[in-house]
Amino acid sequence: MQAKAVIIGSGHYVPEPTITNDELCDAFNAYVTQINTSNKAAIDAGTMIALRESSPEFITKASGIQERHVIAKEGILDPQRMQPLIPMRQDDEISVQCEFALQSAQKALTAANCDAKDIDLVIVSASNLQRLYPGIAVELQKALGTRGFAYDMTVGCSSSTFAIQVATDAIVSGSATRALIVNPEIMSPQINWRDRDSHFIFGDASTALVLETAQRTNKPKSWNILGTKLYSKFSSTVRNNSGYMNRCDPQDISEDDKLFYQQGRKVFKDICPLIPVFIQEHLEELKVPLSDIKRFWLHQANSNINLHIFKRMKGREPNPGEMPMILNEYGNTSSAGSLISFDKYHDDLPSGALGILCSFGAGYSAGNVLLQRQ
Ligand code: COA
Repeated sequence: MQAKAVIIGSGHYVPEPTITNDELCDAFNAYVTQINTSNKAAIDAGTMIALRESSPEFITKASGIQERHVIAKEGILDPQRMQPLIPMRQDDEISVQCEFALQSAQKALTAANCDAKDIDLVIVSASNLQRLYPGIAVELQKALGTRGFAYDMTVGCSSSTFAIQVATDAIVSGSATRALIVNPEIMSPQINWRDRDSHFIFGDASTALVLETAQRTNKPKSWNILGTKLYSKFSSTVRNNSGYMNRCDPQDISEDDKLFYQQGRKVFKDICPLIPVFIQEHLEELKVPLSDIKRFWLHQANSNINLHIFKRMKGREPNPGEMPMILNEYGNTSSAGSLISFDKYHDDLPSGALGILCSFGAGYSAGNVLLQRQ
């Protein structure tokens, strides 16, 4: 099968600070005690429902997450504040998200043995963008010194796989020759750290890929992109209403809906049957048997979801290393998750080996990429 484009380098970056489930729940439960104590009379009178504590055991069992990296630990663990403290910068300083993106971009360029000036397309694709314009990608283009053009896009947890298809199409059509895709997923500012149902889910991470035309490449560690498939279907089960119109309605004073919120159980039920069919349909279109796939780099939202998807497709548990999970250490890093898994766990595969990179999440959106080691 002919490669459409080739991945010649990948990289990922996480900030140093980590928060374990124990640390997270200690802070959360201190907040719960504080609220319940100061509202004791109302709770006793039955006019207010007491807040319930969060437990590390529940988090690990329900999601597989044990800890997460965050850009600013201080503030999150302060029961009086419970949100990261990230000082805003002047317009003539590099933005927080561009600086974050830069870390993984440089790693991918080094892995690809590629000069920034040889890149003619930069796509920053992430669930959350720090501002509307000018584009974070355009700022990154300047910071790196790349040529051509750059733009931002956002497709929830599928931001990375959607960007792979868009960059591949640009390369196939000839509008770009070498593309840099970066997914700076700074998730911690969009978390409602006071919400027991979702305070444990996300972590911060950035990933990057360098893609180029298939004709040019003969690098031994490259990965052929043999096919991409995207899917979307509207759903409000994963949502964040933060946006530029928020200030226009004086009645709209709610803050919680300007952060991430979801119907976790419903998402679980919708996604689990959908993804195995989506992957299998893509492989059938490409005439590749599922049994030929040696590695599954799946989206990292919930370890039970991934196990479920794998078992539905293959009728058995994954063999060691067949479906690498990074969720325990990183949390849900949105579109960066499957790429961290790819970046960490691809080097051992032999020439010709096939793997799939698959994301799914808000939208709903899903993206599948069939890769083959050169
Ligand atoms: N600590 C202790 N108990 C908790 C808790 C916490 N932090 N959060 C919820 N619980 C309790 C609930 O109160 C409930 O108990 P109850 O029945 O006595 O009221 C029980 O645990 C089960 O809650 P539920 O919300 O049904 O948990 P779950 O098993 O569905 O797990 C998620 C929650 C979020 C981990 C899971 O639904 C999920 O990952 N869904 C998919 C999310 C996803 O992929 N979204 C895309 C994001 S980009």
